[in-house]
Formats: sequence, structure tokens, C-alpha cells
Amino acid sequence: MMYPQNVGILAIEIYFPKRFIEQAELEQFDGVPAGKYTIGLGQTQMGFCDDREDVNSIAMTTVQNLVEKYNISYKDIGRLEVGTETIIDKSKSVKSVLMQLFVESGNTEVEGIDNKNACYGGTNALFNALNWVESSSWDGRYALVVAADIAVYAIGPARPTGGAGCVALLIGKDAPIVFDRGLRGTHMDHAWDFYKPDLSSEFPVVDGHLSNACYLKSLDLCYNRYIEKLIAKEKIERPTINYFDYVLFHAPYCKLVQKSYARLFYNDFVYNAEDPCFKNVQQFKGLNVEESLQSKELEKAFVEVSKPSYTKKILPNLLAPSKIGNMYCASLYACLATLLSNVSPEELVGKRVGMFSYGSGLSSSFFSFKVIKPITQIHKILDINNRLNSRVKSSPEKFNEVMRLREETHSKNDYNVVGDGSSVEEAFFEGTYYMEKIDAKWRRFYKRRI
Ligand code: ACO
Repeated sequence: MMYPQNVGILAIEIYFPKRFIEQAELEQFDGVPAGKYTIGLGQTQMGFCDDREDVNSIAMTTVQNLVEKYNISYKDIGRLEVGTETIIDKSKSVKSVLMQLFVESGNTEVEGIDNKNACYGGTNALFNALNWVESSSWDGRYALVVAADIAVYAIGPARPTGGAGCVALLIGKDAPIVFDRGLRGTHMDHAWDFYKPDLSSEFPVVDGHLSNACYLKSLDLCYNRYIEKLIAKEKIERPTINYFDYVLFHAPYCKLVQKSYARLFYNDFVYNAEDPCFKNVQQFKGLNVEESLQSKELEKAFVEVSKPSYTKKILPNLLAPSKIGNMYCASLYACLATLLSNVSPEELVGKRVGMFSYGSGLSSSFFSFKVIKPITQIHKILDINNRLNSRVKSSPEKFNEVMRLREETHSKNDYNVVGDGSSVEEAFFEGTYYMEKIDAKWRRFYKRRI
């Protein structure tokens, strides 16, 4: 059997909450020095949901909006994979909740379930979808990938790195955005950097600094494994990071992405310190991996080396994560949506894009795609800038109240939602699903804002 050609993304939709707060105002409210969240973490705003939204509702919103905007028939979807770590049920999948959207079409023959490992579930869902389309199990229909999370933290240093969002990707053959075959560098390991052992709480247990170290170490390994595969596949000399026109990262907070891009330059330096672009960082030759990861001087020096390229190729794609915050599984794909929305479709043709996915615990992969045709429709539909600008600003006080409400009501049954005092029209964009109640048997009921 021949592989189907050009397997990749045919359509993409993003959802994020309508309400946000300013990180500068949160700094004041939290009583931390000005600049800690905005400069230190690189975050400008943060989206949040009250008790009327859960992972099911944001996933339903995104899928239904994608199907309507691209005029797709639910009958033509043969696989649906969800990636999430926002667990509200230990048995029933988000995927099964999404099946209610298929009812009218009569299509119940849809493979796939939920994928869980911190922020990596969306990537696993994507890999499953790509593998299915390229396999003997494929029945010729589309696969749909949904990456959705509500990221909330207990009061403390991690709270400003919250957020919420969902991205849906329609996968099939003859796509304009084509994933490179046989080019995935993966690293999996056991780590206690971020995990959610308390099933009565939405909050993770997080060792933030350890999670940063695990992220950067995984990036080293995945990048080098990817590059080795690339050399073998293309029979070329070791390329540098300039092989990629853009690189997209899982973006828990934007400063980590800047450090990560710098780290890729350091990896290139380890292989070829003689490259003229490294003439000012020769003092960092010969360090072992641990020493290099611990050196703040090295980090700063390589942030400087990579800065011109970062400003041009990476920073513009951080618009959504910097204004919405961490979306866990959806975070990397929100960077993808930003790229596709902000660069003109003509300019993107022929461009190769690297992607790094990291999920604590841990699992990570570096992979890539190429844009082979103009993505005019995708570009037009995403319209991220205007959508971000049409959100409604809230206050840190309100955000704090909502966090308390979510904490107090998480996993309640026989519960009618309270909200944050705003009407459905004020709180949600048109087409958004929201929860109305959870009955005595923990069954959740949703409505859609038309
Ligand atoms: N102005 C400018 N910069 C400042 C200021 C200020 N007033 N105050 C502090 N900073 C800088 C610090 O120097 C530091 O910079 P550096 O990282 O370059 O050293 C940065 O802001 C952060 O300050 P810290 O004191 O190191 O931060 P803190 O310990 O308060 O927490 C952390 C930061 C660990 C990222 C926390 O927010 C967290 O735990 N987040 C969740 C975990 C996370 O996102 N991990 C990433 C991968 S795993 C995942 O995706 C969940």
C-alpha cells in the first residue's frame, strides 16, 4: 500500500476565554516587584474562565466552530483524539462528550480517545492522528485533534503562569501544512517536576525551577536526536538552527521560550564553536551538560547571540501565549495558530517550521513541518489579532474571586453554576458552549451562546 501524500493540517481553529487580566495589574495586586511577571516571565495578559466553563465546554466550542467555519461534515471525520490534562472524570473521556456534536450526522464510527501527560497530550493526539492517516487502519476520512486545557495554579509564584485555551487541527492527506516523515526526536523520562496527585483539586503540585531544568534538558536531547535523523535522512552535513525558518515551542511563559531558543544556539555551538556567530562566547567551550544548564552567564550570553533571530522568527509567534497565558496542551498549537494568522500566506509557502513539545513528568518531542501551498483560508479564519483585541478586560480582584469559586466548587455535584456576575453575552463570544449545571449524578449540561 502506498502512503497517502502530504499528510498534515487542513484546517485549524483556536478558542480562548473572552475575559483577561493585565499582568502588570496582577503584579501590583500580588505585591511583587513591578516587572516580575511582565519582564521576568515575559507575560502581558492572562485569560481565565469562571465556573461556567470546563474542558468539555472549551473543546466543544472549538470543534463546533471549526466544523462550521470550514463547512466540514461530521460524517467525514473518522478519528478524534483529545489531548488534555484538565481531568474532570477518571473514566469518561472528553472525546466521548464531543460525540454529542456528531449525533445529528449519525456518525458514531469515530476512533480515538483522550491522551494524558501534562502539556504533551495534544502532541500525542497529533502523532496518533498522523500515524492513523498513514496506516493500514485508515479509512480515507479526516482525523481531528483537540488540545484543550484550563491552566490554574494555587496562590504563589506559579499563578501568573496560568491561562486557558483549546486548539483543534483537522488532519488529512494533500494538506498545505505537511509534517516531515521520519523526523521526530523524542525524549521520555520519569520526573516529579509538575503533577496532579490530588484529585479533589484542580491545582498541580509544581517544582517550577525543576520543571524549567527538565524542559531545557529535554530540548537538548530532542533537538540533537532530530538533527541526527535529519542528517541520516537527507544525507547532509549537520545543519544549524537556521535550517528552520521558524521554531515553535510549548510556551508556559514566554521568557522560557526565549531561553529555549538561545539553548538551541548553544547546542549548535557545542558542535561547531568556530562558527563566526559564536566569536563572543568562546569562554563557554568545554562545559559538561549540567554545568552548561546551571550557568546563568552562559544563558545570558546565548540569549544575546540569538536575539536578532529571536526577535524576527520567534517573538511574533508568542503573541497568543503572551496574551492568554499557558494553555498546557494547546500552548504549542496556539503558537502555530499565531504563525499561520500573522505571516502572510504567500510568505509562508516553502517555509520549514520546527516544533518542540514538552509535558512534565515527562515526555517531549522535536518535530517539523513544511508549508507547501498558500493557506489563505486558514489565515483568514484564524484572525488572531482581532479576536484577541475583542476580549474584555477584567480585574485581578475579579480573577482572584473566580479562582476561589473554581477551587470551592471543583468536583461538586448537584450544582448550578454561579459565574462571575457577568451575563452570558458579556462573558462569552458567540458560538461558545458553557455549562449550566452538574446534576446529582455528576452529569454535566451545556448550552451554546448563539
Ligand atoms: N523585573 C524583571 N525581572 C524580574 C523581576 C522584576 N521586578 N523580579 C524577578 N524577575 C525575574 C527573575 O530574575 C527571573 O529571571 P530568570 O528566570 O531569568 O532568572 C524571573 O523573573 C522569574 O523570577 P523567579 O524569582 O525565578 O521566579 P519564581 O520562583 O517566582 O517563579 C516560575 C517562576 C518557576 C516559572 C513559576 O512561575 C512557576 O513555577 N511556574 C509554573 C511552572 C512552569 O511553567 N514550568 C515550565 C515548564 S512545565 C509547564 O509547562 C507547566
